[in-house]
Amino acid sequence: MNKPRVFVTRIIPEGGLALMRAACDADVWAEELPPLRPVLLEKVRGIDGLLCLLTDQIDGEVMDAAGPGLRVISNHAVGYDNVDVAAATARGIPVGNTPGILTETTADFAFALLMAAARRVAEGADYVRAGKWRTWGPMLLLGHDVHGATLGLVGMGRIGQAMARRAAGFGMKVIYYDPYFDAARGAAQGAEAMHTLDALLAEADFISLHVPLTGETHHLIDAQALGKARPTAVLINTARGPVVDTQALYDALAAGQIAYAALDVTDPEPLPADHKLLALPNCLVVPHIASASWATRTRMAVMAAHNLLAGLRGERLPNCVNPEVYG
Ligand code: DGY
Repeated sequence: MNKPRVFVTRIIPEGGLALMRAACDADVWAEELPPLRPVLLEKVRGIDGLLCLLTDQIDGEVMDAAGPGLRVISNHAVGYDNVDVAAATARGIPVGNTPGILTETTADFAFALLMAAARRVAEGADYVRAGKWRTWGPMLLLGHDVHGATLGLVGMGRIGQAMARRAAGFGMKVIYYDPYFDAARGAAQGAEAMHTLDALLAEADFISLHVPLTGETHHLIDAQALGKARPTAVLINTARGPVVDTQALYDALAAGQIAYAALDVTDPEPLPADHKLLALPNCLVVPHIASASWATRTRMAVMAAHNLLAGLRGERLPNCVNPEVYG
């Protein structure tokens, strides 16, 4: 019997690739950059399953190019704003993602950005590399304490809660804004619910974003929101770039309306090397690597492969974002 045909849009850790290669006729895109749109449309023609990444826009056109045999779309990420889930549901195609397994790794990294921003780690490293370190200085690169500061979590899902646990260990006060999260659960975790985003912004020393990108969260942090933040506030984004209005953030950083931004995700993404945000001394940008540990990326690859293989067998995906396809 012929093996199912799948297209994998990039090389992912071997644990996941091996599972797919054993069970499928797997075409794996081996380039560093994602397949361009026309190539993607060509590659998916006639496939049974698609394993894609957050860098691939998977919409109805891609699904139709694949044809009626497409039985599963497995996204190698917890976020799935790159997939038109409604279009998949309309075609009866289950969509998988990788929740849970990257929570702690992503929170570790968000906390690393918080610490780096507070204590000016990137600026210190640049200073030494530039040959400017001539003596110990009582006024050199003074930053802000993390202990005793207030962490404002926008979104109290799995990663927001993992941030709250880390903050407790550092003696921080934790407040959060999440209209979908039960305040009693927050209180049990030592975090105080804010009834409005504005109230959180007015109080937080560090504002860390942990929401999915949806119509509701697109540009949640805009000029008006940034205007509510403290001039000493630090913004940390490990969620999705478009949750923040980039122009408004640039203006706020340039005008000293907030003190610093540490961004793992940007809009646009990737951020061009000549982008004006990168010219600001108070903005640290890293290339969307919050989940990038060996163990976590391997677990993501294996989970994404299991979603794909379940869909190919006609079984319910272990992690499905549109369970309504099962009626
Ligand atoms: C995700 O999974 O959504 C992250 O952004 C990448 O790991």
